[in-house]
Amino acid sequence: MKIAVLPGDGIGPEIINEAVKVLDALGESFELETAQVGGAGYAAHGHPLPEGTLKLAKAADAVLFGAVGDYQYDSLERALRPEQAILGLRKELGLFANLRPAILYPELAGASTLKPEVVSGLDILIIRELTGDIYFGKPRGVRECPDGPFAGQREGFDTMRYAEGEIRRIAHVAFQAARKRDSRVTSVDKANVLETFQFWRDIVTDVHKEYPDVELEHMYVDNAAMQLVRAPKKFDVLVTGNMFGDILSDAAAMLTGSIGMLPSASLDANSKGLYEPSHGSAPDIAGKGVANPLATILSAAMMLRFTFGKTEQADRIENAVKRVLAQGLRTPDIHEPGSTKVGTKEMGDAVVAALA
Ligand code: NAI
Ligand code: MG
Repeated sequence: MKIAVLPGDGIGPEIINEAVKVLDALGESFELETAQVGGAGYAAHGHPLPEGTLKLAKAADAVLFGAVGDYQYDSLERALRPEQAILGLRKELGLFANLRPAILYPELAGASTLKPEVVSGLDILIIRELTGDIYFGKPRGVRECPDGPFAGQREGFDTMRYAEGEIRRIAHVAFQAARKRDSRVTSVDKANVLETFQFWRDIVTDVHKEYPDVELEHMYVDNAAMQLVRAPKKFDVLVTGNMFGDILSDAAAMLTGSIGMLPSASLDANSKGLYEPSHGSAPDIAGKGVANPLATILSAAMMLRFTFGKTEQADRIENAVKRVLAQGLRTPDIHEPGSTKVGTKEMGDAVVAALA
């Protein structure tokens, strides 16, 4: 059970420390090895994804990732920016399925910006395809506009594309995940306007034939955005493309009360995965010892579940998190009258204590 630990920048090292503490407390024989990534990788080795780090990640069964990015690197050319590390890891490790469970713990019902009755008990899973779509399609760039009323001016353009195999494999991930939950999948597209997403809809419908026990519904992305804030609990599993997933999963993050609560997994075709909190490196609070480590601790639980098949240990961590929330412990990102304010380390210690 080899785990590459990549803390990264900003609050990354602080929150990763707490997740490692929780893993250590489980009494399993994990082999943890740490390496630099992001701005820390650039500072130490001149590249956001140094060769040694990539090698370690490739050799490991799973990657536990903090966060990357800091303002001090904003002036670097794009290829050397910290954020390139996560794109490089996804590509090099073949991670194509991003899973983000948005769960509202009953203890945090008052912390969401939505009414408690709309969100209490929320438990949905958003699955975002990571390798295709307009983010990677070629050609792209800026050129002379060939036609229309703006002919002759410059225009920016990108290309949206999805290969059949790309859609099939993410559809399988969604249907299989749904089987372990409430057996319902909502496939989100824009089939009424985009050829790519009419094709997406046709392929998802075809893959569904192998999962007659799972209910499939198709929804346009604009309606899905509306339903996510109107009645989010009616969803079980949402599956969508790279761009729609990027936007919808951030919107769903806020249903849960704080971005500091949201774990994520990025999986390949086998069981290898990269596990990280959904938030970034939060440079505004880095070094202050106040970052919420729970998203990272819950990401470690996802790692135990998806990569190592250690369901019981994953449950143990998730139950420990529920217990500390029930005890009223909150990091400052969660505003709740009457709660006990704790820092990053105290929160990690409390989770360890609650494991017992
Ligand atoms: P961010 O998620 O880092 O921060 C947004 C806000 O949420 C900030 O006010 C921050 O203090 C707060 N926050 C985030 N995580 C928190 C936690 N665990 N506990 C308490 N508060 C928390 O997003 P932002 O500000 O847009 O980006 C900052 C840097 O992070 C940028 O360099 C960005 O590129 C990078 N980033 C990296 C990601 C990754 O490593 N996968 C993902 C998103 C952003
Ligand atoms: Mg995003």
